[in-house]
Amino acid sequence: MIKIINVVGARPNFMKIAPIQREMAKYPNIKPVLVHTGQHYDERMSKLFFDDLQLPKPDIYLDVRSGSHAVQTAKVMMAFEEVLQKEKPDLVIVVGDVNSTAACSMVAAKMHTKIAHVEAGLRSFDRRMPEEINRLVTDVLSDFLFVTEKSGLENLKHEGIDDSKVHFVGHVMIDSLIYFEPMAAKSPILENMGLQPREYGVITLHRPSNVDNKENFLKLLNAFEVIEKQIPLIFPIHPRSQKMIDQLGLREKVEKMRNLRLTEPLGYLDFMRLLHNAKLVLTDSGGIQEETTYLGIPCITMRENTERPITVEVGTNVLVGTDTERIIAEAQKVLDGNAKKGQIPELWDGKAAERIVRILNEKL
Ligand code: UD1
Repeated sequence: MIKIINVVGARPNFMKIAPIQREMAKYPNIKPVLVHTGQHYDERMSKLFFDDLQLPKPDIYLDVRSGSHAVQTAKVMMAFEEVLQKEKPDLVIVVGDVNSTAACSMVAAKMHTKIAHVEAGLRSFDRRMPEEINRLVTDVLSDFLFVTEKSGLENLKHEGIDDSKVHFVGHVMIDSLIYFEPMAAKSPILENMGLQPREYGVITLHRPSNVDNKENFLKLLNAFEVIEKQIPLIFPIHPRSQKMIDQLGLREKVEKMRNLRLTEPLGYLDFMRLLHNAKLVLTDSGGIQEETTYLGIPCITMRENTERPITVEVGTNVLVGTDTERIIAEAQKVLDGNAKKGQIPELWDGKAAERIVRILNEKL
């Protein structure tokens, strides 16, 4: 029997673990244990995703909640150490690049437990991003590095990671997108919001560099102010951004924009249907750059860099930073029918989890 702990902590982890959990259920010799650190805990940031993604209730819930980076990371480490002492798994699987990912990797490494990192090798080369630190730490400690795009292979080679640990398998997040597409198609979100396909844009925004800084946040809002005159913009708002709008005194400006429609954070199926039918997407998320590339929806990324360069090289993604005029110009191109065309990257075929579990089963 191979005992594997699958770790989730924050919203972007849930759709990455779901296909792995499902795949493991096909192997009678693998016993998955689902651990949720509780980094994200609001119903709309967590429970809703468990329901939508048909994830089982976590076997173990650590309830760490929010805090500074050090506090949150330390709390995960303390709680996860006890889990490993008790469970003694053969492997810990971590996904993505959130604080829970790095925290659990550090604990596992010091307890001589093997680690698999799903979504390894991505680099923005910007160490002011907390996620970049998490990616570096996790990759250097991992025994299995599962890579989503070719840039990951090059980055890991440059960092001296042994080839034998690295596996190019595609993208588990795209597995979820493909698997849940028929269910997402039944979401009533467009009807409920009175939206027509291709007649609205979607905004997501939550990076500290964009929303914790008034000057940058304002530059983005100034762009939205121009774009929303032409097309309604739906903005499901992350708790961090919601909080910062008030703290930075931006509430009045936001509310003045009559075509900028703020909603609560959406569940997975609703959000996928919203993305699928959007005319354009404005985002600073990592995963959404990839989901739009897969769906062929124009994506304007309000960041200076991306750790997912394939979405720019092959996909529909354009990086515009926080420059108001550039954001407006790129949105205008899309609205004028001159959106960048893209293709689906190699191995983004819905079979990544299948490859990952097969490799783990063979090697363990
Ligand atoms: C985290 C990840 C980020 C990921 C994002 C997706 C890190 C370093 N960052 O950022 O990579 O893109 O999740 O959402 O791990 N909050 C709530 N309810 C919740 C969770 C958070 O209200 O369920 C509020 C809290 O006030 C908290 C703030 O949001 O202080 C930020 O949460 P945190 O988990 O620290 O980071 P995120 O910005 O969500």
